[in-house]
Amino acid sequence: MIRLATVQFTPRLGEREANLDAIGKLLDPVEAEVVVLPELCTSGYFFVTREELAPLAEAPGGVACDFFQHLAEAKRAIIVAGMPEAADGRFYNSVFVFRPGVPEPLIYRKAHLFYKERFVFEPGDTAFPVIRDERLDISIGIMLCYDWRFPEVSRVLALDGAELIACPSNLVTDAWRKVMPARAIENKVYVAVANRCGAETRGEETLLFKGCSAVYDPYGEPVALAGADGDRVLLAEMDLRPCRDKRFNEFNDIFADRRPELYGAICRKR
Ligand code: ACM
Repeated sequence: MIRLATVQFTPRLGEREANLDAIGKLLDPVEAEVVVLPELCTSGYFFVTREELAPLAEAPGGVACDFFQHLAEAKRAIIVAGMPEAADGRFYNSVFVFRPGVPEPLIYRKAHLFYKERFVFEPGDTAFPVIRDERLDISIGIMLCYDWRFPEVSRVLALDGAELIACPSNLVTDAWRKVMPARAIENKVYVAVANRCGAETRGEETLLFKGCSAVYDPYGEPVALAGADGDRVLLAEMDLRPCRDKRFNEFNDIFADRRPELYGAICRKR
């Protein structure tokens, strides 16, 4: 069994030090081998200019990366954290994955930009990564919030061996709650949605983040659920054996039964 901690948290917009401090306090008593934090957890979400985002954008070797790398070493945990990234003069809405004993984080850049993110972030140019960790004997696929509306993402992660899909999030609708369990069932994987709560107002516009962080098992059942408000850490034990056996009766196997020769051309064209 692998112990998973899914963190629901309310970042303060633009206040990296306060956010890291709050994350440190939330995780201090937690013993887990995998930790998933929300999207943009060090910075907050609703940026309207690149100028205000720039001082908060992270890169390997920076303050937030050092913080999470130390935490990963101290807890012997894999830490999955959404943060803004600066690279080559551009900004990405990224997920950084920190592993004990691995000094360089793996980075996933959000492929599908949501709403006004396009005004400050570039669309991601990384593939959808699956991290194989031999020590824990787990494969973790990464997607980021609005990626959930594209079933291709969880599918390619699962086809690439993911047993857990970690989805740092800043969700502002409720539709995902119908769909995430399906992503778990159709791929026979665990899905961890680490959402934030609270609200951010810029000018006339307020975004309300919906909390309700959740962990679904490979049958789509919720094994841990948070409420709409409140910072907390959801704990769940993962038994990965069902994720490695894609059969669901004696004749059907959801991967072996696929017919990519019938849907491949259309998927590529449109
Ligand atoms: C989202 O992608 N933050 C909804």
